[in-house]
Amino acid sequence: MGEPVDATAEWGGEISALRCPRCGVIPTAMSGPKPPAVRPLLLVVDDEPAVLKIVERLAGKAGFEVITCASGAEALRTLMRRPADLAMVDLRMPDVNGLDLLRQIRRSVPGCEVILMTGYAAVDSAVEAIKLGARDYLTKPFDFDRLRELLLDIRLEMERRAHVVALESQVARQLEFCGMLGRSPLMQEVFSLIQRLAPHAKVVLISGETGTGKELAARAFHQAGPRRTRPFVTINCSAVVDTLFESELFGHVRGAFTGAVESKPGLFEAAQGGMLFLDEVGELPLSVQAKLLRALELGEVQRVGSLQSKRVDVSVIAATNRDLRAEVAAGRFRGDLFYRLNVVEVALPPLRDRREDIPYLTAAFMRDAAQRMGKPLNGLTPAAERVLLSARWDGNVRELKNVIERACMLTDGTLVSDRELAGAFGPEAPSTGRPRAAAPMRTNGDPAPLEAVERVHILEVLRQVNGNRMAAAKVLGISRRALYRRLDRHRLIDEAPRPSLARRTS
Ligand SMILES: Nc1ncnc2c1ncn2[C@@H]1O[C@H](COP(=O)(O)OP(=O)(O)OP(=O)(O)O)[C@@H](O)[C@H]1O
Ligand SMILES: [Mg+2]
Repeated sequence: MGEPVDATAEWGGEISALRCPRCGVIPTAMSGPKPPAVRPLLLVVDDEPAVLKIVERLAGKAGFEVITCASGAEALRTLMRRPADLAMVDLRMPDVNGLDLLRQIRRSVPGCEVILMTGYAAVDSAVEAIKLGARDYLTKPFDFDRLRELLLDIRLEMERRAHVVALESQVARQLEFCGMLGRSPLMQEVFSLIQRLAPHAKVVLISGETGTGKELAARAFHQAGPRRTRPFVTINCSAVVDTLFESELFGHVRGAFTGAVESKPGLFEAAQGGMLFLDEVGELPLSVQAKLLRALELGEVQRVGSLQSKRVDVSVIAATNRDLRAEVAAGRFRGDLFYRLNVVEVALPPLRDRREDIPYLTAAFMRDAAQRMGKPLNGLTPAAERVLLSARWDGNVRELKNVIERACMLTDGTLVSDRELAGAFGPEAPSTGRPRAAAPMRTNGDPAPLEAVERVHILEVLRQVNGNRMAAAKVLGISRRALYRRLDRHRLIDEAPRPSLARRTS
């Protein structure tokens, strides 16, 4: 405190001590100004040496570091070099009027409090000084007891303030884990689980609805674990053509199949020593599941077309928004692979179960958006906050992020209002809703078979999102590929609603 504020220089050697003990990243909350040193800096300005001496002695005892100056000009020069926390300024000095000096200090060192001193007490100048932002107005000769008390009060107040700043940044650090934000007990539990597992777990399954942060959690595992300096390789299993899976994962040799003109290593080999992230693992075809299981169990892979095995040391982290147990029961996912992946499971809670995270996430997303868009945004109107707190959030954190970004784009002032949020939740749904599940269906008084309910539900969702396949897949919590498979199975490819240009552009 007292020194010019340059975040990096200020923190200097202490910065490494502030790294996230969990992932090694220095949290942004810690790059602000350093909390004050124990002794705040006091600058005394008076042309009477006796006054300087007395104040120096009393303030030193009250815990201040003291610098004395005999003139206004000298005081300003000193302040530019070392911004003080407190200045005691004589009202009448040969070179400058104390009130002018007060004005200058308020302008150029806004963090510095100012006390005026005078031997010619006058109500006018006292009122003027306070109006200009002076902390207090003292008359000379000093009442020593009062001066001592005032200095002690100020020092204690400064210490308290520094303590609060330090506490706040400490709290901010605990609310962030390797890029994931969350203040809810549920998310704190997730952070703690990842932190404890990351050093040991070799295979991890992350489950959670769409947009709950599965990919972010996978990256957190990587950052918080011993493989953080090794590769993090991702494959999105819903985006790979069935016939290419094997070669993607395990590689191939030249001539292994038509088009294999060169030998190519697979992702397992690319991730050697690091981590392979199998996103949407529920979409993996059964034939590839068997080969994946083999790779996990033996720790070796075989390129397509090769008889040789290669040892790989890769940690596998899989994510799914499906209920894999149900997939196993339905015969769509191998039970043995599920149990192999499921040794360690981290389930990310949906946003609706941790609504206390909403204001916090909103503030963070808004800060980012405001910075990117160069807008002076700094909050929500109470009505907008109510809308966000009560929405369904079927799309979870991703949906919240999109809604905030869109609202920030539309906002002209400094606050986002419910007006900018209206319409952010889909064209036909009310501002707080997303398409809901169809009511339980019955045929001849009996519950309808699941297949029939699924068919009707898919049709209903497609209708509500104007036939947009991508949006429907999101609402249904499945990949687009999985949606097409289901459309095919239900013979809906031609029958299902398609996006109509008129509605899309309206
Ligand atoms: N706890 C969080 N803190 C900050 N941002 C988050 C958090 N959780 C999710 N996000 C953000 O929300 C978006 C979606 O997250 P992510 O891609 O990790 O979700 P997902 O579960 O993998 O979704 P999907 O199932 O659709 O693939 C990303 O932009 C991510 O940065
Ligand atoms: Mg994902």
